[in-house]
Amino acid sequence: MSSLEAVTRGLELAGQRHVLQFWPELDEEERARFLQDLDLLDLDGLRAHCERAAAAAAAPPAGGDRSIEPVPPELIGSVRTSDPESLSAWREEGLMQISQNRVGVLLLAGGQGTRLGVQYPKGMYNVGLPSNKTLYQIQAERIHKIQELADVKHGSRCSVPWYIMTSEFTLAPTQKFFEENSYFGLEPSNVILFEQRMIPAVTFDGKVILQGKGKIAMAPDGNGGLYQALVDNKVLEDMRRRGVEYLHVYCVDNILVKMADPVFIGFCVSKGADCGAKVVEKAFPTEPVGVVCRVQGVSQVVEYSEIHPDTAGLRGPGGDLVHGAGNICIHFFTRAFLQEVAEKFESQLKPHVAIKKVPFVDSEGNQVKPTKPNGIKMEKFVFDVFPFSRNFVAFEVLREEEFSPLKNADSAATDNPTTARNSLLTQHCRWAAAAGATLLDQHGKPLPPAASVSPADAPPAQCEISPLVSYFGEGLDLMLKGKNLRTPLILDLIKAQDLQAQ
Ligand code: UD1
Repeated sequence: MSSLEAVTRGLELAGQRHVLQFWPELDEEERARFLQDLDLLDLDGLRAHCERAAAAAAAPPAGGDRSIEPVPPELIGSVRTSDPESLSAWREEGLMQISQNRVGVLLLAGGQGTRLGVQYPKGMYNVGLPSNKTLYQIQAERIHKIQELADVKHGSRCSVPWYIMTSEFTLAPTQKFFEENSYFGLEPSNVILFEQRMIPAVTFDGKVILQGKGKIAMAPDGNGGLYQALVDNKVLEDMRRRGVEYLHVYCVDNILVKMADPVFIGFCVSKGADCGAKVVEKAFPTEPVGVVCRVQGVSQVVEYSEIHPDTAGLRGPGGDLVHGAGNICIHFFTRAFLQEVAEKFESQLKPHVAIKKVPFVDSEGNQVKPTKPNGIKMEKFVFDVFPFSRNFVAFEVLREEEFSPLKNADSAATDNPTTARNSLLTQHCRWAAAAGATLLDQHGKPLPPAASVSPADAPPAQCEISPLVSYFGEGLDLMLKGKNLRTPLILDLIKAQDLQAQ
């Protein structure tokens, strides 16, 4: 560990001497902890980081969305408009790649979940399904099932490694949660947790913010911190060792995420893509989703916080949004592309500015909880590597099947625990009906079909199908056809066996 003298010198050179203002007041233990934290800071890069943050916050908005164009149709596959033979061929291709251990999934789980307002990692959230499963459990069981589907199809015993990027906030609780739950039946060596870097929050005049007398305000470096974290933690080497060539990256909060989706993977592989993104049609111009598009001919995402409202609101002759390809934070990358990013492009990723309220100690040593934004957090975005791609593709999916994010608490109108729960239960009602079952209420009266229910409404019934029984609705007719099923119903493996035997 560096000495106090070395750290002091480093801070002075970075113009950040104030960080040690309260050093004399700290006790031995606090000093040791603070010195340890400061030792982990990149002191050489600190001046540049602070100056860049202050300059970026002071600069007018980039207005970079002026030459934005939709992604050309020939680069887009779609579950809505592609023909059924192509969709089936892509699914087969994806399952084949999975069966050969060439596919991994990577979860971005380093965020702080501030909008949801819980103190623990979002993946541990229980949205109140009849089974009380958490997001992590649902995801784990989907991995289990997709491995099984590939094995049955190809006579393999494959595994889909699950890489989970955490941060200082989420690593320990996530680790503990997986251990306590026996990795939800997955092989522990196939669940690989790693940690992204943290960077200091900075004031508008470029000073590192002290959160406590012996603590700097730090925040994860954005989900685009992935690329540095892949290198720091030798994740690309691990992928190479396992023979993983394709990575399905996703964000933690989408309850409908299809883990290692074989259709998406098969589509990207068939097109020879090095990089791909799933999209849904944006629901309304101000929906908080990025837009997958081209800017000056280069594929990228313009984030919802950075798009001009006039651009977001543009409509074509048919009334559809011109920039309606909503990013759902599900991406495809080849390992070769990630390797290239790590070696050549990571340092070119430009951080984005987020202006936040950051609690701090003032120069008199008082703890302050600001009422208006006082600090700058710099974040890299995971999709900012798209412009380096040589062959980028997009894949359109249906919102009601694949996108229902948990961003907010129930006090907000959208993207909350209730909407997440409802969208999953409504989907499962649709699957049961499509398999030929009639769902009954608790008095034995038939319920209306799910198709007549809008996604925002309460589901027609409490019908939850375990991912261990079905991944995307497949295989249900064997057990459900012609059956009248009383709800609430949890269709788990035991219930499925019972029904099949009837
Ligand atoms: C994200 C997308 C947005 C998309 C939306 C869909 C980015 C930058 N933005 O927005 O374009 O339309 O999801 O739901 O991807 N995370 C980390 N480390 C961090 C910060 C975040 O791992 O330092 C993870 C979070 O845990 C989460 C994911 O990244 O799983 C997305 O982060 P979040 O802040 O929820 O992104 P949004 O603003 O909703």
